[in-house]
Amino acid sequence: MPTWPSEHCASKALYDRALRVLPGGITRIQPWQDPFPVYASHGEGAYVVDVDGTRRVDFLNNFASLIHGHAPRLVVEAVQNRVARGTAFTLPTREEVDLAEAISSRAERLEQLRFSNSGSEAVMCAIKAARALTGRPAIVKCEGAYHGSYDFAEVSLDSTPSDWGAVPASIGYSKGVPRGVLADVIVVPFNDPAAAERIIHAERERIAAILIDASPSYIGLIAISPEFAATARRLADEIGALLILDEVISFRVHHGGAQTLLGIRPDLTVLGKIIGGGFPVGAVAGPAEYMKVFDHRKGKPLLPWSGTFTANPVTMTAGKVTLDLLDAEAIARINELGTRLRRDIAKVFEEYAWPGQVTGFASMFRFLGHRRPVTDYRSCYHDKTESLRVEGLQAALLREGFHISAKGMGFLSTAMGESEIDALVQATARVVSRAASPSPPDATTRRPNS
Ligand SMILES: Cc1ncc(COP(=O)(O)O)c(C=O)c1O
Repeated sequence: MPTWPSEHCASKALYDRALRVLPGGITRIQPWQDPFPVYASHGEGAYVVDVDGTRRVDFLNNFASLIHGHAPRLVVEAVQNRVARGTAFTLPTREEVDLAEAISSRAERLEQLRFSNSGSEAVMCAIKAARALTGRPAIVKCEGAYHGSYDFAEVSLDSTPSDWGAVPASIGYSKGVPRGVLADVIVVPFNDPAAAERIIHAERERIAAILIDASPSYIGLIAISPEFAATARRLADEIGALLILDEVISFRVHHGGAQTLLGIRPDLTVLGKIIGGGFPVGAVAGPAEYMKVFDHRKGKPLLPWSGTFTANPVTMTAGKVTLDLLDAEAIARINELGTRLRRDIAKVFEEYAWPGQVTGFASMFRFLGHRRPVTDYRSCYHDKTESLRVEGLQAALLREGFHISAKGMGFLSTAMGESEIDALVQATARVVSRAASPSPPDATTRRPNS
């Protein structure tokens, strides 16, 4: 039977149909694969099976959202039970209270929550909340940090040496971003407290929020430095702005999220991915003194926010069961697997003199196509050859039976054990030993994020 990437495989037939009805043949650009995408059929724990029946280890886990892998039994049973009793109501449900309590109990600064349907919406909502609370228009974000699809949050996401400027310039991500958006986003270099202090103080009157991520994916998934996190906190206090911590990915690193592990004290936290247990979700969380911005009880709130499917009981059920299963022990186990993976892959790169490195933190990793020490977006930045090097490795690993992202990222799930980690290490050794001499394979599509 033909398998991907044969011209006669089932993925190709689907792609041909898709080209007629979906621009570029796909909905998410991130999983684009030359010559055409692999179409998923179903998932089983750590594995995903494509429409031709090929089974691969899934280190993508729907871009870090499936913390227990595919179709975990207890989540599936709870969701099936919930679906049979109705999937969405205009009325509130017990499930939204249950999930809010479960998240709130995990960290002191997650006292109250407002749910949304995606991390992008939640980032947008947190920024709007900060503007509403402070009466100021501008936000600060880090160069190269991904915070989802909102014009303001996307500024300087993919700056290049030709446009990034000496002090980070505010660059629109898509064509047509209004100049006003760029004027209201102040960009600072990640992990550079002195530069952040200078830039932020110069604009202090206009700033509503400082938005940070404790381990930005475009910056190698490295951990934020304690000095930078402390400086962001102090500056927010000094200028009367809010500190927003985007934990859409990093919440997985500790029972109480990166804020607990790294001792960060955010005013607002943005959540998503794993808290939805495999269903669309986002949330803004924070102490009641800030979350009152959503409170309608004295008339129109400062920030009215809701949506047709927000806090739907299916997502809430899946999220609650998922978090109940994600105790400190489960997190410690996948964090240790992450350490094992990064250690062993580093040895492989060393042994075969592959000109790259593996970075990451806790249960996350990223293969980089260069060996420069990474502290910020510019030191992580890949030129064309370096990007192709990583894309070549990813494409080869796909053929070996492993899904990682085109930018070399991977996220572990509790469905994985040492055998899946060791299998990836061995496959990587096979690939880089073969690639020790030849030129990188051709892969030319520029990829946005998930
Ligand atoms: C750090 C971060 N923030 C926000 C988002 C946006 O979340 P969503 O894709 O659910 O809109 C993402 C998505 O990958 C993310 O990684």
